[in-house]
Amino acid sequence: MIVGDRVGGRSLRWGMVGGGRGSQIGYVHRSAATRDGIFALVAGALDVDGERGRAFGIALGMDPSRSYPDYKVMFTAEAGREDGIEVVSIATPNNTHFVICKAALEHDLHVICEKPLCFTVAEAEELAGLAKSRQRTVGVAYGYSGYQMIEEARALVAAGELGDIRVVNFQFSHGFHNTAVEQESPSTRWRVTPEFAGPSYVLGDLGTHPFYLSEVILPHLRIKRLLCTRQSFVGSRAPLEDNATVLMEYESGAVATAWISAVNAGAMHSQKIRVVGSRGSLEWWDEHPNQLSLEIQGQPPRLLDRGMPYLHGTALEEDRIGAGHPEGLFDAWANLYRRFALAITGSSQTLTFPGIEAGLEGVRWVENCVRSADQGGVWVDYR
Ligand code: NAI
Repeated sequence: MIVGDRVGGRSLRWGMVGGGRGSQIGYVHRSAATRDGIFALVAGALDVDGERGRAFGIALGMDPSRSYPDYKVMFTAEAGREDGIEVVSIATPNNTHFVICKAALEHDLHVICEKPLCFTVAEAEELAGLAKSRQRTVGVAYGYSGYQMIEEARALVAAGELGDIRVVNFQFSHGFHNTAVEQESPSTRWRVTPEFAGPSYVLGDLGTHPFYLSEVILPHLRIKRLLCTRQSFVGSRAPLEDNATVLMEYESGAVATAWISAVNAGAMHSQKIRVVGSRGSLEWWDEHPNQLSLEIQGQPPRLLDRGMPYLHGTALEEDRIGAGHPEGLFDAWANLYRRFALAITGSSQTLTFPGIEAGLEGVRWVENCVRSADQGGVWVDYR
């Protein structure tokens, strides 16, 4: 149970790049990191507009001398201070992740980076090599993996409750971008512009989330090959897709399908994962994250609830308020930031966290999907 004590008995000195006023995800990072005093936000370069970023940092309570106009200035200045930042979060558009992450590691900082980690496997491998040589932790902000029922799903599969895994189906298919909303929304505009978004829109922006959940729940499955098709139903988004379908075959003989979309008109998030084994199935949906459906063939279906004593120990480890009270996105992210802190401080932990390997695998998945789709939807070997 989490009761608010700080990892290692102190707050990590934390900085942020991006996540400025009006950004979509900046506040979620700050709420999660500071929830239990585990991270203290002492410096930032929060905005592409240096002055606006400085003003916002001061409004958040930063020492004015540590609210910087630019991340390069911040890394240099903080490295020269005895009380300089130890860890930095990067919550900027995708095209900047690689260069900022690299600069942070070169300044011996631990990094928590937004997804997708970068644009190519080659870049991800370079970051992984740098993190290893500098002995620094890189965490990737796959926030949904902080939900407790994802741990229960993982534990059920590990215990063999579903039998042999045969079929996996995951999706993140919302309807919010069924028209060209980017004309009015800057934070959607960069997502559909290759220069900022990279080689894909929905595959990288949305698909990497349930893909990582599949890796957490099914760590023993390795993709052998995949086939992807992608479309730009809002034509002005081409060559970037706003809808994609992926077929995957695992080395074990299991198969998977994924539907990733921003044009699922009428749908909210619609992020789900269903795992089917020879004995039974489980299903989780991020709009009802406190429940996990467990169906064993020939038995009545069960809806498992967060916080209940019948869950596995790892699914109860991050409980904060007991059963019955709903927990949500902020709690999941706070769990994840806590796991990052445990990794950064070298403390023992039983739960997995999305590290540099998870970032790299997300990039590999997108790269393979794009490679398949751009050849007309052909099977491609995964590695
Ligand atoms: P946004 O466009 O709403 O905000 C981006 C922020 O970064 C703005 O404050 C902007 O001024 C700042 N920025 C841009 N370039 C900068 C630079 N060079 N230095 C300092 N600040 C800079 O974008 P949003 O939606 O917040 O996304 C940011 C990142 O977070 C993206 O990589 C996105 O994929 C990811 N994201 C992840 C989510 C998750 O669930 N993990 C959810 C939403 C976004």
